[in-house]
Amino acid sequence: MDSQVLNEARSRIADDVRIDIIGKTQHTDNDRARLEISRSFVSDTITAPSREMYAYAINASLGDDVYHEPTTAALEAHVARLTGKEAGLFLPSGAMSNQIALRTHLKQPPYSVLCDHRSHIYKYEAGGAAFHSGAATIATIPSNRHHLTLKDVKEHVVIGSDVHFAPTEVIALENTLNGTIFPQDEILAISGFAQSQGMKMHLDGARIWHVAAETATPLKDLCEPFDSVSLCFSKGLGAPVGSCLVGSREFIQKARWLRKLFGGGMRQTGILSASAAYALSFNFPRLPEVHALARKLEAGLRGIGVEITSEAETCMVFFDPSRLGLDFSEISESAASLENPIKVYGSRLVVHIQTTPEAVDDLLSLIKKLADEKAAAGFVPPSKPETNGVPKDVYVRAGVKPGKS
Ligand SMILES: Cc1ncc(COP(=O)(O)O)c(C=O)c1O
Repeated sequence: MDSQVLNEARSRIADDVRIDIIGKTQHTDNDRARLEISRSFVSDTITAPSREMYAYAINASLGDDVYHEPTTAALEAHVARLTGKEAGLFLPSGAMSNQIALRTHLKQPPYSVLCDHRSHIYKYEAGGAAFHSGAATIATIPSNRHHLTLKDVKEHVVIGSDVHFAPTEVIALENTLNGTIFPQDEILAISGFAQSQGMKMHLDGARIWHVAAETATPLKDLCEPFDSVSLCFSKGLGAPVGSCLVGSREFIQKARWLRKLFGGGMRQTGILSASAAYALSFNFPRLPEVHALARKLEAGLRGIGVEITSEAETCMVFFDPSRLGLDFSEISESAASLENPIKVYGSRLVVHIQTTPEAVDDLLSLIKKLADEKAAAGFVPPSKPETNGVPKDVYVRAGVKPGKS
Protein backbone atom coordinates (compact mmCIF):
# COMPACT_ATOMS: atom_id res chain seq x y z
CA MET A 1 0.00 0.00 0.00
CA ASP A 2 1.41 3.43 -0.85
CA SER A 3 1.71 5.88 1.99
CA GLN A 4 -1.21 8.09 0.93
CA VAL A 5 -3.59 5.11 0.78
CA LEU A 6 -2.21 3.94 4.13
CA ASN A 7 -2.79 7.34 5.72
CA GLU A 8 -6.34 7.53 4.37
CA ALA A 9 -7.09 4.04 5.74
CA ARG A 10 -5.66 5.04 9.13
CA SER A 11 -7.67 8.18 9.14
CA ARG A 12 -10.91 6.25 8.42
CA ILE A 13 -10.15 3.90 11.33
CA ALA A 14 -9.39 6.87 13.58
CA ASP A 15 -12.76 8.36 12.56
CA ASP A 16 -14.44 5.09 13.58
CA VAL A 17 -12.60 4.95 16.87
CA ARG A 18 -13.22 8.61 17.82
CA ILE A 19 -16.05 9.31 20.24
CA ASP A 20 -17.20 12.32 22.20
CA ILE A 21 -19.11 11.07 25.22
CA ILE A 22 -19.49 14.49 26.80
CA GLY A 23 -22.80 15.63 25.38
CA LYS A 24 -23.72 19.27 24.84
CA THR A 25 -26.13 19.09 27.76
CA GLN A 26 -23.67 17.33 30.08
CA HIS A 27 -23.34 20.22 32.54
CA THR A 28 -27.08 20.57 32.98
CA ASP A 29 -27.45 16.75 33.04
CA ASN A 30 -24.89 16.64 35.84
CA ASP A 31 -26.67 19.38 37.76
CA ARG A 32 -29.86 17.32 37.46
CA ALA A 33 -28.00 14.18 38.57
CA ARG A 34 -26.66 16.02 41.63
CA LEU A 35 -30.20 17.11 42.47
CA GLU A 36 -31.42 13.50 42.09
CA ILE A 37 -28.61 12.24 44.34
CA SER A 38 -29.52 14.82 46.99
CA ARG A 39 -33.04 13.30 47.02
CA SER A 40 -32.12 9.63 46.89
CA PHE A 41 -32.26 7.43 50.00
CA VAL A 42 -31.17 4.29 48.13
CA SER A 43 -27.50 4.09 49.14
CA ASP A 44 -24.45 6.17 49.99
CA THR A 45 -22.58 4.60 47.07
CA ILE A 46 -24.45 6.95 44.74
CA THR A 47 -22.71 10.06 46.12
CA ALA A 48 -20.99 11.90 43.25
CA PRO A 49 -17.52 13.43 43.32
CA SER A 50 -17.82 17.17 43.90
CA ARG A 51 -16.12 19.71 41.65
CA GLU A 52 -13.76 20.54 44.53
CA MET A 53 -12.79 16.86 44.85
CA TYR A 54 -11.98 16.67 41.14
CA ALA A 55 -10.09 19.97 41.28
CA TYR A 56 -7.88 18.53 44.02
CA ALA A 57 -7.49 15.12 42.34
CA ILE A 58 -6.26 16.49 39.03
CA ASN A 59 -2.99 17.46 40.76
CA ALA A 60 -2.17 13.85 41.70
CA SER A 61 1.06 12.12 40.70
CA LEU A 62 1.18 10.12 37.47
CA GLY A 63 2.81 6.80 38.41
CA ASP A 64 1.74 3.31 37.38
CA ASP A 65 0.49 1.62 40.53
CA VAL A 66 1.57 -1.89 39.52
CA TYR A 67 5.12 -0.49 39.79
CA HIS A 68 4.90 2.56 42.02
CA GLU A 69 2.35 5.32 42.22
CA PRO A 70 3.48 8.01 44.70
CA THR A 71 0.12 9.50 45.80
CA THR A 72 -1.41 6.01 46.06
CA ALA A 73 1.55 4.83 48.15
CA ALA A 74 1.10 7.91 50.37
CA LEU A 75 -2.60 7.12 50.81
CA GLU A 76 -1.88 3.47 51.64
CA ALA A 77 0.74 4.49 54.22
CA HIS A 78 -1.65 7.06 55.72
CA VAL A 79 -4.53 4.59 56.13
CA ALA A 80 -2.16 1.98 57.56
CA ARG A 81 -0.89 4.50 60.13
CA LEU A 82 -4.42 5.68 60.92
CA THR A 83 -5.59 2.12 61.60
CA GLY A 84 -2.45 1.06 63.47
CA LYS A 85 -1.38 -1.48 60.86
CA GLU A 86 1.95 -1.94 59.13
CA ALA A 87 0.82 -1.62 55.52
CA GLY A 88 -2.09 -0.82 53.21
CA LEU A 89 -3.21 -1.73 49.71
CA PHE A 90 -5.44 0.37 47.44
CA LEU A 91 -8.09 -1.75 45.72
CA PRO A 92 -10.82 -1.05 43.17
CA SER A 93 -13.72 -2.20 45.34
CA GLY A 94 -14.83 -3.26 48.79
CA ALA A 95 -15.82 -6.72 47.57
CA MET A 96 -12.38 -7.33 46.08
CA SER A 97 -10.77 -6.06 49.26
CA ASN A 98 -12.80 -8.45 51.44
CA GLN A 99 -12.25 -11.39 49.10
CA ILE A 100 -8.51 -10.82 48.79
CA ALA A 101 -8.30 -10.55 52.57
CA LEU A 102 -9.96 -13.96 52.94
CA ARG A 103 -7.82 -15.47 50.19
CA THR A 104 -4.69 -14.14 51.87
CA HIS A 105 -5.62 -15.53 55.30
CA LEU A 106 -6.79 -18.92 54.04
CA LYS A 107 -4.19 -21.32 52.74
CA GLN A 108 -5.39 -24.91 52.42
CA PRO A 109 -9.01 -26.17 52.64
CA PRO A 110 -10.99 -27.48 54.40
CA TYR A 111 -11.83 -24.39 56.40
CA SER A 112 -14.71 -22.09 57.21
CA VAL A 113 -15.34 -18.39 57.73
CA LEU A 114 -17.76 -17.40 60.48
CA CYS A 115 -19.74 -14.21 59.93
CA ASP A 116 -23.10 -12.56 60.57
CA HIS A 117 -25.82 -13.96 58.30
CA ARG A 118 -26.58 -10.41 57.11
CA SER A 119 -22.98 -9.55 56.28
CA HIS A 120 -21.88 -8.26 52.89
CA ILE A 121 -19.11 -10.86 52.68
CA TYR A 122 -21.70 -13.64 52.93
CA LYS A 123 -24.79 -12.25 51.21
CA TYR A 124 -23.67 -9.78 48.60
CA GLU A 125 -20.35 -10.91 47.17
CA ALA A 126 -21.73 -13.56 44.82
CA GLY A 127 -20.52 -16.47 46.91
CA GLY A 128 -16.95 -15.17 46.62
CA ALA A 129 -15.60 -16.97 49.70
CA ALA A 130 -16.51 -20.33 48.16
CA PHE A 131 -15.31 -19.38 44.69
CA HIS A 132 -12.04 -17.62 45.45
CA SER A 133 -10.97 -19.36 48.65
CA GLY A 134 -12.87 -22.67 48.63
CA ALA A 135 -14.21 -21.72 52.04
CA ALA A 136 -17.41 -22.84 53.71
CA THR A 137 -19.26 -19.97 55.36
CA ILE A 138 -20.92 -20.23 58.76
CA ALA A 139 -23.57 -17.53 58.48
CA THR A 140 -24.60 -16.93 62.07
CA ILE A 141 -27.79 -15.25 63.32
CA PRO A 142 -27.01 -12.91 66.24
CA SER A 143 -29.18 -14.00 69.15
CA ASN A 144 -29.82 -10.36 70.07
CA ARG A 145 -30.71 -9.52 66.42
CA HIS A 146 -28.17 -6.66 66.51
CA HIS A 147 -24.60 -7.96 66.61
CA LEU A 148 -22.80 -11.26 67.11
CA THR A 149 -21.72 -12.01 70.65
CA LEU A 150 -18.90 -14.21 71.92
CA LYS A 151 -21.60 -16.69 72.95
CA ASP A 152 -22.98 -16.79 69.39
CA VAL A 153 -19.49 -17.28 68.02
CA LYS A 154 -18.66 -20.07 70.46
CA GLU A 155 -21.92 -21.83 69.63
CA HIS A 156 -21.30 -21.87 65.88
CA VAL A 157 -17.57 -21.91 65.38
CA VAL A 158 -15.96 -25.17 64.24
CA ILE A 159 -12.96 -26.31 66.27
CA GLY A 160 -11.17 -29.65 66.27
CA SER A 161 -10.07 -32.37 63.93
CA ASP A 162 -13.32 -34.22 63.22
CA VAL A 163 -13.07 -34.86 59.47
CA HIS A 164 -16.79 -34.17 58.97
CA PHE A 165 -16.36 -30.45 59.57
CA ALA A 166 -14.53 -27.46 58.08
CA PRO A 167 -12.60 -25.81 60.92
CA THR A 168 -13.10 -22.07 61.32
CA GLU A 169 -9.99 -20.15 60.40
CA VAL A 170 -11.39 -16.64 60.00
CA ILE A 171 -14.02 -14.70 61.92
CA ALA A 172 -15.21 -11.89 59.65
CA LEU A 173 -17.14 -9.07 61.31
CA GLU A 174 -18.76 -6.00 59.76
CA ASN A 175 -18.90 -2.54 61.35
CA THR A 176 -21.19 -0.78 60.73
CA LEU A 177 -23.59 -3.50 59.66
CA ASN A 178 -26.77 -2.13 58.15
CA GLY A 179 -25.73 1.15 59.75
CA THR A 180 -25.56 -0.28 63.28
CA ILE A 181 -22.51 -0.02 65.50
CA PHE A 182 -20.85 -3.19 66.77
CA PRO A 183 -20.04 -2.72 70.50
CA GLN A 184 -16.27 -2.64 70.82
CA ASP A 185 -16.18 -4.64 74.07
CA GLU A 186 -17.91 -7.55 72.29
CA ILE A 187 -15.42 -7.32 69.41
CA LEU A 188 -12.59 -7.48 71.94
CA ALA A 189 -14.13 -10.54 73.59
CA ILE A 190 -14.52 -12.28 70.21
CA SER A 191 -10.99 -11.40 69.13
CA GLY A 192 -9.54 -12.68 72.44
CA PHE A 193 -11.29 -15.97 71.79
CA ALA A 194 -10.18 -16.05 68.13
CA GLN A 195 -6.60 -15.44 69.13
CA SER A 196 -6.72 -18.23 71.72
CA GLN A 197 -7.86 -20.60 68.94
CA GLY A 198 -5.34 -19.41 66.34
CA MET A 199 -8.12 -17.93 64.16
CA LYS A 200 -7.72 -14.71 62.16
CA MET A 201 -10.02 -11.74 62.56
CA HIS A 202 -11.09 -9.74 59.49
CA LEU A 203 -13.20 -6.59 59.57
CA ASP A 204 -15.35 -5.41 56.70
CA GLY A 205 -15.02 -1.79 57.72
CA ALA A 206 -16.55 -0.33 54.58
CA ARG A 207 -18.26 2.17 56.90
CA ILE A 208 -15.94 2.03 59.94
CA TRP A 209 -15.52 5.79 59.37
CA HIS A 210 -19.06 6.24 60.65
CA VAL A 211 -18.26 4.40 63.88
CA ALA A 212 -15.19 6.56 64.48
CA ALA A 213 -17.17 9.73 63.73
CA GLU A 214 -20.20 8.77 65.83
CA THR A 215 -18.48 7.31 68.89
CA ALA A 216 -15.35 9.49 68.78
CA THR A 217 -13.23 6.33 68.97
CA PRO A 218 -9.90 6.49 67.11
CA LEU A 219 -9.76 4.22 64.05
CA LYS A 220 -6.65 2.63 65.50
CA ASP A 221 -8.65 1.39 68.52
CA LEU A 222 -11.53 0.18 66.36
CA CYS A 223 -9.15 -1.78 64.12
CA GLU A 224 -6.80 -3.05 66.81
CA PRO A 225 -8.61 -6.41 67.40
CA PHE A 226 -8.36 -7.33 63.71
CA ASP A 227 -5.60 -8.92 61.63
CA SER A 228 -7.00 -7.25 58.52
CA VAL A 229 -9.46 -4.46 57.84
CA SER A 230 -11.09 -3.32 54.61
CA LEU A 231 -12.12 0.35 54.50
CA CYS A 232 -14.08 1.96 51.66
CA PHE A 233 -13.72 5.48 50.27
CA SER A 234 -16.59 5.22 47.81
CA LYS A 235 -19.55 4.92 50.18
CA GLY A 236 -20.15 7.34 53.04
CA LEU A 237 -17.01 9.34 52.23
CA GLY A 238 -18.16 10.12 48.70
CA ALA A 239 -15.05 9.26 46.64
CA PRO A 240 -15.75 7.77 43.20
CA VAL A 241 -13.77 4.53 43.52
CA GLY A 242 -11.60 2.62 45.93
CA SER A 243 -11.02 0.74 49.15
CA CYS A 244 -7.96 0.16 51.27
CA LEU A 245 -7.02 -3.16 52.84
CA VAL A 246 -4.70 -2.93 55.84
CA GLY A 247 -2.76 -5.51 57.82
CA SER A 248 0.76 -6.66 58.58
CA ARG A 249 3.54 -6.00 56.06
CA GLU A 250 3.71 -9.68 55.18
CA PHE A 251 -0.08 -9.93 54.78
CA ILE A 252 -0.24 -6.91 52.47
CA GLN A 253 2.69 -8.15 50.41
CA LYS A 254 0.77 -11.35 49.70
CA ALA A 255 -2.50 -9.45 49.17
CA ARG A 256 -0.73 -7.23 46.58
CA TRP A 257 0.30 -10.36 44.72
CA LEU A 258 -3.26 -11.70 44.86
CA ARG A 259 -4.62 -8.35 43.69
CA LYS A 260 -2.62 -8.86 40.50
CA LEU A 261 -3.86 -12.43 40.24
CA PHE A 262 -7.47 -11.25 40.64
CA GLY A 263 -6.91 -8.73 37.83
CA GLY A 264 -7.11 -5.77 40.19
CA GLY A 265 -3.67 -4.26 39.59
CA MET A 266 -4.41 -0.74 38.36
CA ARG A 267 -2.23 1.79 36.58
CA GLN A 268 -2.54 5.60 36.93
CA THR A 269 -4.48 5.49 40.19
CA GLY A 270 -3.25 8.90 41.43
CA ILE A 271 -6.50 10.61 40.49
CA LEU A 272 -8.47 8.00 42.46
CA SER A 273 -6.19 8.10 45.49
CA ALA A 274 -6.29 11.89 45.55
CA SER A 275 -10.11 11.78 45.41
CA ALA A 276 -10.02 9.41 48.38
CA ALA A 277 -7.60 11.72 50.22
CA TYR A 278 -9.96 14.64 49.59
CA ALA A 279 -12.83 12.54 50.93
CA LEU A 280 -10.88 11.75 54.11
CA SER A 281 -9.95 15.39 54.68
CA PHE A 282 -13.21 17.11 53.81
CA ASN A 283 -16.04 14.55 53.91
CA PHE A 284 -15.15 12.46 56.95
CA PRO A 285 -15.65 15.48 59.29
CA ARG A 286 -19.18 15.85 57.91
CA LEU A 287 -20.38 12.40 59.02
CA PRO A 288 -21.79 13.57 62.41
CA GLU A 289 -24.13 15.97 60.56
CA VAL A 290 -25.19 13.06 58.28
CA HIS A 291 -26.00 10.94 61.34
CA ALA A 292 -27.96 13.81 62.89
CA LEU A 293 -30.03 14.07 59.71
CA ALA A 294 -30.68 10.30 59.79
CA ARG A 295 -31.87 10.64 63.40
CA LYS A 296 -34.13 13.49 62.34
CA LEU A 297 -35.61 11.22 59.66
CA GLU A 298 -36.12 8.45 62.21
CA ALA A 299 -37.80 10.83 64.68
CA GLY A 300 -40.07 12.12 61.91
CA LEU A 301 -41.07 8.59 60.92
CA ARG A 302 -41.85 7.69 64.52
CA GLY A 303 -43.90 10.88 64.80
CA ILE A 304 -46.06 9.72 61.90
CA GLY A 305 -46.51 6.30 63.55
CA VAL A 306 -44.14 4.36 61.28
CA GLU A 307 -42.49 1.38 62.93
CA ILE A 308 -38.69 1.61 63.09
CA THR A 309 -37.13 -1.81 62.60
CA SER A 310 -33.51 -0.70 62.93
CA GLU A 311 -32.60 2.63 64.47
CA ALA A 312 -30.43 5.35 62.96
CA GLU A 313 -27.23 4.58 64.85
CA THR A 314 -25.29 6.13 61.97
CA CYS A 315 -26.54 6.85 58.44
CA MET A 316 -29.24 4.23 57.89
CA VAL A 317 -32.71 3.74 59.26
CA PHE A 318 -34.98 0.78 58.50
CA PHE A 319 -38.73 1.11 58.69
CA ASP A 320 -41.95 -0.79 58.24
CA PRO A 321 -44.95 1.31 57.18
CA SER A 322 -47.49 -1.53 57.36
CA ARG A 323 -48.95 -0.26 60.65
CA LEU A 324 -50.22 2.72 58.66
CA GLY A 325 -51.69 0.49 55.96
CA LEU A 326 -48.85 1.37 53.56
CA ASP A 327 -46.44 -0.85 51.68
CA PHE A 328 -43.00 -0.11 50.30
CA SER A 329 -44.01 -0.01 46.66
CA GLU A 330 -46.77 2.56 47.34
CA ILE A 331 -44.22 4.80 49.01
CA SER A 332 -41.52 4.42 46.35
CA GLU A 333 -43.99 4.92 43.49
CA SER A 334 -45.54 8.02 45.07
CA ALA A 335 -42.06 9.39 45.87
CA ALA A 336 -40.93 8.82 42.28
CA SER A 337 -43.95 10.66 40.91
CA LEU A 338 -43.52 13.81 42.99
CA GLU A 339 -42.89 17.00 41.00
CA ASN A 340 -39.45 16.96 42.60
CA PRO A 341 -38.97 13.18 42.78
CA ILE A 342 -37.49 11.27 45.70
CA LYS A 343 -35.93 7.82 45.38
CA VAL A 344 -36.58 5.22 48.05
CA TYR A 345 -36.04 1.51 47.82
CA GLY A 346 -37.74 -0.85 50.26
CA SER A 347 -37.26 -0.67 54.00
CA ARG A 348 -33.78 0.86 54.07
CA LEU A 349 -33.31 4.63 54.04
CA VAL A 350 -29.74 5.85 53.67
CA VAL A 351 -28.75 9.43 54.45
CA HIS A 352 -25.43 10.60 52.98
CA ILE A 353 -23.24 13.68 52.68
CA GLN A 354 -25.26 14.91 49.69
CA THR A 355 -28.73 14.35 51.19
CA THR A 356 -30.43 17.68 51.79
CA PRO A 357 -32.59 18.46 54.83
CA GLU A 358 -35.36 19.40 52.34
CA ALA A 359 -35.31 15.86 50.93
CA VAL A 360 -35.85 14.48 54.45
CA ASP A 361 -38.70 16.94 55.10
CA ASP A 362 -40.30 16.14 51.73
CA LEU A 363 -40.11 12.37 52.31
CA LEU A 364 -41.69 12.75 55.75
CA SER A 365 -44.46 14.98 54.34
CA LEU A 366 -45.16 12.42 51.63
CA ILE A 367 -45.43 9.49 54.06
CA LYS A 368 -47.63 11.59 56.35
CA LYS A 369 -49.92 12.47 53.43
CA LEU A 370 -50.16 8.81 52.33
CA ALA A 371 -50.89 7.72 55.91
CA ASP A 372 -53.59 10.41 56.26
CA GLU A 373 -55.18 9.20 53.03
CA LYS A 374 -55.24 5.61 54.35
CA ALA A 375 -56.78 6.78 57.62
CA ALA A 376 -59.40 8.83 55.73
CA ALA A 377 -60.22 5.70 53.71
CA GLY A 378 -60.93 3.85 56.97
CA PHE A 379 -57.62 2.09 57.76
CA VAL A 380 -57.23 1.52 61.50
CA PRO A 381 -53.66 0.84 62.74
CA PRO A 382 -53.16 -2.24 64.93
CA SER A 383 -52.67 -1.27 68.58
CA LYS A 384 -49.25 -2.88 69.13
CA PRO A 385 -46.07 -2.88 67.06
CA GLU A 386 -45.61 -6.34 65.55
CA THR A 387 -41.96 -6.59 66.58
CA ASN A 388 -42.43 -5.58 70.25
CA GLY A 389 -39.30 -3.50 69.94
CA VAL A 390 -37.11 -6.37 68.69
CA PRO A 391 -35.36 -5.22 65.54
CA LYS A 392 -36.17 -7.16 62.38
CA ASP A 393 -32.95 -8.33 60.86
CA VAL A 394 -34.09 -8.78 57.31
CA TYR A 395 -34.95 -5.80 55.26
CA VAL A 396 -37.42 -5.84 52.48
CA ARG A 397 -37.09 -4.20 49.15
CA ALA A 398 -40.02 -3.07 47.12
CA GLY A 399 -40.68 -5.10 44.02
CA VAL A 400 -37.04 -5.34 43.02
CA LYS A 401 -34.51 -8.09 42.75
CA PRO A 402 -32.50 -8.61 45.91
CA GLY A 403 -29.41 -6.47 46.00
CA LYS A 404 -27.34 -4.28 48.20
CA SER A 405 -24.54 -1.79 48.10
C1 LIG B 1 -20.55 -3.37 54.15
C2 LIG B 1 -20.08 -3.46 52.74
N1 LIG B 1 -18.97 -4.14 52.47
C3 LIG B 1 -18.49 -4.26 51.21
C4 LIG B 1 -19.15 -3.66 50.16
C5 LIG B 1 -18.62 -3.85 48.77
O1 LIG B 1 -18.13 -2.69 48.23
P1 LIG B 1 -18.03 -2.51 46.64
O2 LIG B 1 -19.39 -2.18 46.17
O3 LIG B 1 -17.05 -1.38 46.50
O4 LIG B 1 -17.51 -3.78 46.10
C6 LIG B 1 -20.31 -2.92 50.39
C7 LIG B 1 -21.01 -2.28 49.28
O5 LIG B 1 -21.79 -1.38 49.47
C8 LIG B 1 -20.79 -2.83 51.72
O6 LIG B 1 -21.92 -2.16 51.99
